[in-house]
Amino acid sequence: MRLLVTGAAGFIGSTYVHLVSGGHDVTVLDKLTYAGRRENLEGADVRFIEGAIEDPATVREAMEGADAVVNFAAESHVDRSIEGQDPFAVTHVIGTGTLLDAARELGVSRYVQVSTDEVYGSIESGSFTETSPLDPSSPYSATKAGGDLLVSAHAHTHGIEAVICRGSNNYGPRQHPEKLIPLCILNALHDDPLPVYGDGRQVRNWLYVQDFARAIHLVLERGKPGEAYNVGGPDECENIAVVRRILDLTGRDDSLIEYVKDRPGHDRRYSLASDKVRELGWEAQTRFDDGLERTVQWYRDNERWWAPIRSGEYRAYYEQQYGRSLG
Ligand code: NAD
Ligand code: TYD
Repeated sequence: MRLLVTGAAGFIGSTYVHLVSGGHDVTVLDKLTYAGRRENLEGADVRFIEGAIEDPATVREAMEGADAVVNFAAESHVDRSIEGQDPFAVTHVIGTGTLLDAARELGVSRYVQVSTDEVYGSIESGSFTETSPLDPSSPYSATKAGGDLLVSAHAHTHGIEAVICRGSNNYGPRQHPEKLIPLCILNALHDDPLPVYGDGRQVRNWLYVQDFARAIHLVLERGKPGEAYNVGGPDECENIAVVRRILDLTGRDDSLIEYVKDRPGHDRRYSLASDKVRELGWEAQTRFDDGLERTVQWYRDNERWWAPIRSGEYRAYYEQQYGRSLG
């Protein structure tokens, strides 16, 4: 297949491209925001176009001749969306709409929207299925839900063969250190405090990034047009337990834990039922304990990857978000 993969200079998109680029002809379109890096695609045979999914001319150039589009492009951090929603609305809503319009005009036969469990909101017990109502609570998830609804509208109105793939919290190599797991790994390795929001009892459903990438490809190949597929990780875990496990794996103790002010509107628990994607033949292969150990080892081995991030824009972000500087 000739694939257009957007947002593939980021964490999950680059993992997906490394998985599929050997067997497919891949074009990447990425705006290279603070979260996107060309080097994440080193070793993959791709045509790279720097540009925005909300720019119709660039999108048409990149999509010409494609058989399928997989859209990863996003502003992906909830805390940043609380500080300012505009880039989130532009990328998730206008950008998704621009891709869908081009796909229709160019007759692209398949479209996958990469989305998140956060569009369903928080759930105290049980798990969300694909028919659960969308009830997002942050500007990040609200704009992602807007994108999902546009995809469904284009499938319904224009007959585009679009599918939506909603993943739970991902972790693994090459994740930006603004997110909980890499932030705590790098802070522990530097003997900096690990900031835990609120009481630390929030629950996330952790999914190893390669498992999500495999699910997305399966949904591209076998998903039913117009449908959504949930992809949840095999393990749920309270944040404080994740932080303690990272301290164990890095040989540090609990004295590095620092409880800080809670995130406004913080969702308590996410949980997905993944029966529908399992029926397509998917199964998570990595349990949280193993994946976390591998991830810690990757950050230990790849200072060359994270050192430029820790010394760049991230320092100012960190100071503003946590009211203290990185050590
Ligand atoms: P990321 O922040 O690591 O990467 C996002 C990429 O998109 C970057 O390369 C960035 O440069 C690019 N980008 C941003 N705006 C763009 C635009 N307007 N045009 C073109 N490129 C643009 O994000 P990620 O964690 O890899 O997430 C990828 C997708 O998966 C997102 O859609 C996200 O909502 C979804 N998702 C993420 C998680 C998670 O835990 N990280 C879980 C489920 C779903
Ligand atoms: P995050 O990695 O930002 O993902 P999401 O908000 O999409 O779930 O956060 C995961 C959980 O960790 C979430 O409950 C918020 C919490 N958290 C902290 O306790 N401290 C932190 O410094 C960060 C970034 C997150």
